Amino acid sequence: MQDASHTAEVVVPPSALTEVVAEERQFLRFSRLNRILHIVMIVSFMSLALTGMTLKFSYTGWAVILGKLFGGFESAGYIHRLAAVLMVGIFVAHIANLVQRKRKEFGSWKALLFGPDSMLFNKKDWQDFVGNIKWFLGKGPRPKYGRWTYWEKFDYFAVFWGIFVIGSTGFMLWFSEFFTHFMPGQLLNVATIIHSDEALLAVGFIFTVHFFNTHLRPEKFPMDICVFSGRMDFEEFKRDKPLEYEALLKSGELEKYLVEPYPPIVIRAIRVFGWTALTIGFSIVVWIIYAMLFAYR
Ligand code: HEM
Repeated sequence: MQDASHTAEVVVPPSALTEVVAEERQFLRFSRLNRILHIVMIVSFMSLALTGMTLKFSYTGWAVILGKLFGGFESAGYIHRLAAVLMVGIFVAHIANLVQRKRKEFGSWKALLFGPDSMLFNKKDWQDFVGNIKWFLGKGPRPKYGRWTYWEKFDYFAVFWGIFVIGSTGFMLWFSEFFTHFMPGQLLNVATIIHSDEALLAVGFIFTVHFFNTHLRPEKFPMDICVFSGRMDFEEFKRDKPLEYEALLKSGELEKYLVEPYPPIVIRAIRVFGWTALTIGFSIVVWIIYAMLFAYR
């Protein structure tokens, strides 16, 4: 599956290229649509995690405080449902965008799914994984990554899995009367366990592994704002994604993705949003660990 990122935006005209490359060096990695989808997904996921964990650990002090902030446990449940609708909306918008791109840009699913910038795993991902372990151990060079690294692909499909498992069981809990017309009621208990534990896994994964891979690894520390600004420093792009850089250079398409940077006020606003999300995410992890260690029922 290919991403929808390379949609031209504030494209720098070729005449001004030399100047801009020398001064600004910004590479457009994410389209406006993908940036908006990611921001809305953060808002909906944070809301789902906060309200969901408040319900799950309702017997702890922190959940009681959060519950009050949400207007009570019942209203936390309503906010949870609202955020769930938002998340499903994002998922549908992403799939619709893929279908549209298949029609307009690729012509066939084969071209979209198995092209060089595909999100699907391939042999090179395995080679990169092995190469990366060797690099960690100081026994080889850093693998030359293309548009997507194997861990970025993993994170992408983790969302598909989460939407499928957490979403389907969530709708069973929401519309329990409807579902019990054709399935035994005991399955609702199973759905609750799956929903609750899978949610715990998703929260644990995103607020630790995904946060580390994206923001806390030494090259990106303390925060990578690329998915919000859509832009990355040109030198960083060459270093981080050398195969994509070489391919764009060879095809003569690189110019299309050189854009002007955002003004500092926008970058500041992005950082405030990013830090807020990181703080909420890490706090939820701490609260869960506390609940599991000292208050678990
Ligand atoms: C399409 C997505 C989702 C739907 C439709 C959904 C729906 C629901 C519903 C109806 C409940 C019961 C709420 C109540 O008792 O008032 C619930 C509980 C819960 N949800 Fe979700 N949810 C979704 C996604 C998520 C996500 C993404 C997370 C966490 C990241 C999450 C975490 C939880 C937790 C922890 C509970 C409490 C379960 C328990 O009591 O043990 N949910 N969800």
